[in-house]
Amino acid sequence: MMKNLIEPAIWTKETTIEWVDGRLDALVANYGKNGEPQRISFRALCSNWVWAKRSDVYTHYLHRYPAKLLPYIPIFFLSSSLTGNGSILDPFAGTGTVAVEAITHFTNPKDCKLVEINPLARLISAAKTTPIDPSILEKKSLELFSIIEKNRLSNLQIPDFPAIDFWFRKDAQKGLSTIRTAIELLNADFQVKDFFWVCFSSIIRDMSRADPKVSPPVLLSASKFAGKQKEYIQTWVNKKNRYKANVLFSNAVKKNIARMKRLWDACQLSNRQSTIIGHDARNLTKSPYLGKGMLDLSSETKLRQNSIGMVITSPPYINAQKYTRATKFELWWLGLLEPNSKALVDYDKNLVGTERILYDEYNEVQTVNNQTADTFIAKIYETDPHKAAVVSKYFKDMRVSLKEIKRVLQPGGYCALVVGNNIVFKQSIPNNQILAEIAQDEGLTLNLMLVDEIRSRGLITKRHESAGIIADEWVLLLQKPMM
Ligand SMILES: C[S@@+](CC[C@H](N)C(=O)[O-])C[C@H]1O[C@@H](n2cnc3c(N)ncnc32)[C@H](O)[C@@H]1O
Repeated sequence: MMKNLIEPAIWTKETTIEWVDGRLDALVANYGKNGEPQRISFRALCSNWVWAKRSDVYTHYLHRYPAKLLPYIPIFFLSSSLTGNGSILDPFAGTGTVAVEAITHFTNPKDCKLVEINPLARLISAAKTTPIDPSILEKKSLELFSIIEKNRLSNLQIPDFPAIDFWFRKDAQKGLSTIRTAIELLNADFQVKDFFWVCFSSIIRDMSRADPKVSPPVLLSASKFAGKQKEYIQTWVNKKNRYKANVLFSNAVKKNIARMKRLWDACQLSNRQSTIIGHDARNLTKSPYLGKGMLDLSSETKLRQNSIGMVITSPPYINAQKYTRATKFELWWLGLLEPNSKALVDYDKNLVGTERILYDEYNEVQTVNNQTADTFIAKIYETDPHKAAVVSKYFKDMRVSLKEIKRVLQPGGYCALVVGNNIVFKQSIPNNQILAEIAQDEGLTLNLMLVDEIRSRGLITKRHESAGIIADEWVLLLQKPMM
C-alpha cells in the first residue's frame, strides 16, 4: 500500500520517517513504471524541516575539501526507514559530510563508519565528527598560543618539499613552522590535537601564493588579467602578502571552536559516534584510529560481512577532481606524506579515478566487462589510449568497491550511491548508467535512480577543461537482496 504523501501536522521521528518513506515509495513506483531517472531537489525535499537548514552548521566548514557532498542528500536518506538497524558506512568518506549528518540527525541519529584513502581527509573527518567540550579546546588553545609565543625565536624545522620557496614566502614558512612545532609540543589527547591540526591545515592555502578559489594550486597573479580585474587581483595579492600565520591560525581556532560547540551540543542529545575504520573502499577493513589521520594497520581485519545497515557515499568521478594535487601542500606541511614528488605520485596511483596509469596498461584496449563502458573505452582509445586506460581502471576499481559494499551490507540493506557524469576527452561518460549496470552485475538490485541539479560543490573545478563541468548529480538507490 502506498504510504502517506501529505505533510503531517507535527514532524516527529515517526511522521518524518513515514513521510519520507511515502516520497521514496512514490519515486520507486514511478521509476518502476517508466524507467526514467526521477528528477528531484534534495534541498527542496528537506525544506520542511527547520533543523535541516544547511550552511555553516556543526563542523561542516572546519576545512575546505574538493567535491564535498550536498548535506541534504544524507539528511534525506537518514530521515527514512532505509537506514536499517546497523551503522551507516561511507566508504569514500572524503571529509565526513555523511558522518556529521548521521551523528547529529534530528530524528534518526546513527553511528557511522568511515573509510577514506587520503590521510588529510581522514584527519579532517575525525576532527569534524569527534565532539569535544569547547571549554577544553579554549583551555588548550591558550596553552598552544603560549607555546607559539615562546617558540617564535627558537630554531625552526621548515619542511623541505618541492618548490616550497616558490609557493610560500619565507615569513609564511617561519610562521607555519612555528605553529606546527607548537602543536607537536602541546600536551593533549590525539582528539584535541586533531582539532588543532585541522585548524592549522585550514590556513595553509591562504598562506601560500596559490589562488584559494582554484582546487589544485595555481599561482594567484594579476598579470593574467586586464583592467579592473587586474587591479582587484593585485590588491588581493598585496593583501595576501601581508597575512601572518599566527593571526590566521588564531582566527581559525576561534571560528572552529564555535563550530565545535554546535556539534558538542547536538551530540549531547544524540550520543551517536563516528569512527574512521579503513583506508580503501576496494578492500573494506577495520583498524584502530591513532590520530592525525593515521590507522594502526598492524591490527587490520576484514570488515565483517552483513554488518552494515546502510551505505551512503559519493565515490570520485573519473579524473574530475585532483584530490592529490588539491591537498598536496597540506599533506606535506602536516607530514602525512614524504616531502617529495615520488611519494605524491605513489599515493596518487592508489586512488580510484587516478590518471597515473603505467604505459603497459594502455598499449591495448582494456575492457571492463560492461558493454556500455566498453563502447566508450574503445572510442576514447582511438584518439587517446591513455585516457581510455584511465576510464577502464576507474570502472574496474568501482566494480571491486561495489562488490565490497554488497559484502558488508546486511541482507535487504540499501546503498545510496551519489555519482556525476563527466566528459573525458570529449566523450560524455554516462557514469550513472554504467555504475548502475555494474552494481546489478554484482548482484545488487537497482530500485531507483534520482537526478538533482548541482548548485554548490565547494571547490569543484569549474575551470577544469579536459574533465568537463558536472551539472547533475545522480543517486542510485541499490539494495542487497534478502537471500
Ligand atoms: C567525492 S569525494 C567524497 C567527498 C565526501 N562525500 C565529502 O563530502 O567530503 C571522493 C573521495 O574518495 C576518496 N577515494 C579515492 N579512492 C579511494 C579508495 N580507493 N578508497 C577510499 N577512498 C577513496 C578520495 O580521496 C575522495 O576523498
